[in-house]
Amino acid sequence: MVSMSEKSNRSGQPNLRREVEILAATHEIYAPSPDVVSNANLPNYLELQQQALSDIITFWDDQAQTFIDWFEPYQQVLDNSNPPFYKWFAGGKVNIAYNALDRHARTWRKNKLALLWEGEPGDVRLYSYFGLWREVNKFANVLRSMGVKKGDTVTLYMGRVPELIIAMLATVKIGAIHSVVYAGFSEQALADRIEDAGSRVVVTCDGAWLRGKTVNLKDIADAAIHRSPVVQQMLVVKRTGQQVRMAPGRDFWWHELMNLPIASPYCEPEVMDAEDPLFILYTSGSTGKPKGVVHTCGGYQVFIATTLKYVFDLKEDDRWWCAADPAWITGHSYITYAPLILGATSFMYEGAADYPYPDRWWSLVEKYHVSVLYTTPTAIRRLMRFGEAWPNRHDLSTLRLLGTVGEPINTAAWRWYYQVIGGERCPIIDTWWQTETGGFMITPTPVVPLKPGSATIPFVGIEADVVREDGASCEPYEDGDLVIKRPWPGLARTIWNNPEQYLSEYWSQFQAQGWYFSGDSARRDDDGYFWIIGRTDDMIKVSGYPLGTAEIENSLLSHKFVAEAAVIGLPDAVKGQVIHAFCVLKTGLQGDNRLVDELKEHVRHEVGPIAVPAAVTFVTSLPRTRSGKIMHRLLKAQVLGQPVGDTSTLADQ
Ligand code: PRX
Repeated sequence: MVSMSEKSNRSGQPNLRREVEILAATHEIYAPSPDVVSNANLPNYLELQQQALSDIITFWDDQAQTFIDWFEPYQQVLDNSNPPFYKWFAGGKVNIAYNALDRHARTWRKNKLALLWEGEPGDVRLYSYFGLWREVNKFANVLRSMGVKKGDTVTLYMGRVPELIIAMLATVKIGAIHSVVYAGFSEQALADRIEDAGSRVVVTCDGAWLRGKTVNLKDIADAAIHRSPVVQQMLVVKRTGQQVRMAPGRDFWWHELMNLPIASPYCEPEVMDAEDPLFILYTSGSTGKPKGVVHTCGGYQVFIATTLKYVFDLKEDDRWWCAADPAWITGHSYITYAPLILGATSFMYEGAADYPYPDRWWSLVEKYHVSVLYTTPTAIRRLMRFGEAWPNRHDLSTLRLLGTVGEPINTAAWRWYYQVIGGERCPIIDTWWQTETGGFMITPTPVVPLKPGSATIPFVGIEADVVREDGASCEPYEDGDLVIKRPWPGLARTIWNNPEQYLSEYWSQFQAQGWYFSGDSARRDDDGYFWIIGRTDDMIKVSGYPLGTAEIENSLLSHKFVAEAAVIGLPDAVKGQVIHAFCVLKTGLQGDNRLVDELKEHVRHEVGPIAVPAAVTFVTSLPRTRSGKIMHRLLKAQVLGQPVGDTSTLADQ
């Protein structure tokens, strides 16, 4: 075993806190209770997990038949004739909205609740499968009447309201491709994403509720469109009732359109090829330009339905609450699509977890009898700070499973979640995955023994490994690159408009072996459990939201006083990471507190509140490699007072 001080992740950063936690928790095992095992959807999961690798084709074929209705059968489960551009369920014809709604609306499930929703001010909306299907049909017809057709892109920039789910499903029902942009992003970020996707139609809201205040989504969308004139139509949901400017001929109210004859309540689903694009979702890339990850119609739905069914063990009478934002992949896969495909009942909440009081979430669990809750370590840490008296005031006994995603969960947060929220009865399902993987990759199911802070073992049919740079598997407890050695149906197929970037970001590092490079460093313990250490690239995760350093740096550089800029992520007890910015000012200028505030405001305006640096330091130069790349790890080590590691590529030493 390597000594603690020698171990570091690939970015050269020792991560001592994670280090100590992993060593302590490797032997802290929580075995599933016999009750949980006997009730699990897949009690023989561990055997299947071992066996499935010998025949992944049969495994995925079975799942595709079990969970999905096909308009026309596929001819081949996996076409791997042109790796890494894999095709799953080749030749199959399908529509995800049909599987999510149409087929249920024809059975007894038409009366079942598909979605229970509560707004931040306390208003409630309930949708049956039939009701949701009808709304989706109506909006799909509205989109068609706007000229949207198969293959077009539609950008959705909305708060956490049911209309977002409806708009996503309506878009894919008619074969168009949605690009959902998180409502926390500001005008430049939105403009870049609209432009890259080439959307003529944007759907937004007048505003969104956040902590009793409103965010002016329509104003931001207007400003973005001004920068990105490709948009011809904007459809606006009235949510907050605030004043907005409606451009005649360009902007239309959702509720008015939905009352016109064009919004007829039946819409034939478009017949899609399994490999047609389904949606684009932008995530942070290694360049300043956001990277549009593309998922496709067939394999994605097979993968998300299978993983949700077995990992969260969903049952007909569950009330599932995935507390993510629908704008992130977690929300796409596990709010909008997979629960509906499985015919489950979801709960969704619009606002902040601690508004107006720190027990808002716990009161919602009690009020709606939530049985499975899935959230992030950041949310748990934030709510944990208020103390256990808040959850203890509520009856949380309906909960039977808890989940987490987005970053490594520290043991203190894990234990609090397990003991205080789950009453030591609910397994914690720590799911490791990415926007690009579509769904859960390394994760326990309720029958897998747990270790706090470990995402445990790969899902059935997923061959994951931790390897050295030459591809050799690492020894137990040795850090290396987390790779996936075989394709899986939920794999993103390309980067929108940029297949070269797809190849270089994910497939160039282990090109000879043909493995998927996750960009995470990880290690395995002697039981084969996976422990994620963190990113090896420049992605920063603030409160679990992925942000690219380059996008924030570019926004700083667009300020008239800034000559050079670098941002790094620093550890934070609640948010996981916070942003620290370093700026070199143009000649002759002096930085002061006023400029710090101005720069923060500038980033808020350009990228969004989530990207605002916690600190800004003015420096006279930035450490760069001889080829001119900023050495982020060096800045980080300096701030943290840690050894700077290998500096042989540093310019001007
Ligand atoms: O670093 C890993 C971290 O989140 C990254 C993916 O981010 P994103 O594409 O935004 O998707 C997040 C939701 C799926 C990963 O590369 N990550 C995700 N889940 C975990 C995690 N790190 C540790 N443990 C997890 N469970």
